[in-house]
Amino acid sequence: MSLWKHHAKFERHSLWLIIGILIVVSIGGLVEIAPLFWLQGTIEKVDGMRRYTPLELEGRDIYVREGCYLCHSQMIRPLRDEVERYGHYSLAAESMYDHPFQWGSKRTGPDLARVGGKYSDAWHRDHLKDPRSVVPESVMPPYQFLSNAELDYRDLVDKMKAQKTVGVPYTDADLANAKADLEAQADPFSTDAVALRTRYGPKVVNRDFDGDPEKITEMDALVAYLQMLGTLVDFNSYKAQAPENQR
Ligand code: HEC
Repeated sequence: MSLWKHHAKFERHSLWLIIGILIVVSIGGLVEIAPLFWLQGTIEKVDGMRRYTPLELEGRDIYVREGCYLCHSQMIRPLRDEVERYGHYSLAAESMYDHPFQWGSKRTGPDLARVGGKYSDAWHRDHLKDPRSVVPESVMPPYQFLSNAELDYRDLVDKMKAQKTVGVPYTDADLANAKADLEAQADPFSTDAVALRTRYGPKVVNRDFDGDPEKITEMDALVAYLQMLGTLVDFNSYKAQAPENQR
């Protein structure tokens, strides 16, 4: 009877009810979310993860600009059907340099988290120019204009600085050589590619992604980005870390 008396206060005054709900819900939130800020293993360190090269960063911006994320996710969930179709489930570390992240919530097309290396550059070009030329039943829109649009990278250094402010570890040398690095990656004969690889790692390949040696196009940048997706971490040597308390 006395419990009801107290409870009546909540049931009869919406303000008390709201305050009560807020208290109860925030306890649940605190218990679930707060530990993530102290757990060392929230984002485990994974070998191979690196910041994006300037060309990949530009490609990523085109991906965002064109709204590719509206039809494509970049997050493989740890469920059997997904892992069998797309490969190893996505690790938090794999999107640590993504600002904003591209996990996506809609899959009109397949997940792209590990699409890198799955097809040739030529396939990507044909597919982006006219998806139905390679996948007849595709409902993906064509992006022919990307191969004609010269890449505008005048604000590249500013973009990298912005990424740096939100935690991507671009160095002063990265910023100083940004344009040279971008041009080197799009040129199969570049002598600057050695310097590009000392900065971004030995796996970075310089080649003519868009098949047009005359100019650097938006297609170059987008294909370079797509071909990198999911290739940074070597899953032959990767072992999931046990949580702190089970080591
Ligand atoms: C309207 C939805 C839609 C949009 C927008 C879209 N796609 Fe697609 N995409 C699809 C569909 C559907 C498929 C599967 C059929 C096919 O391969 O064309 C696909 C397939 C792909 C594939 C092949 C994936 C695989 O594993 O076979 C790639 C790569 C791709 N899209 C990249 C892009 C990029 C890059 C953009 C943005 C420039 C983009 N898509 C925009 C719907 C879309």
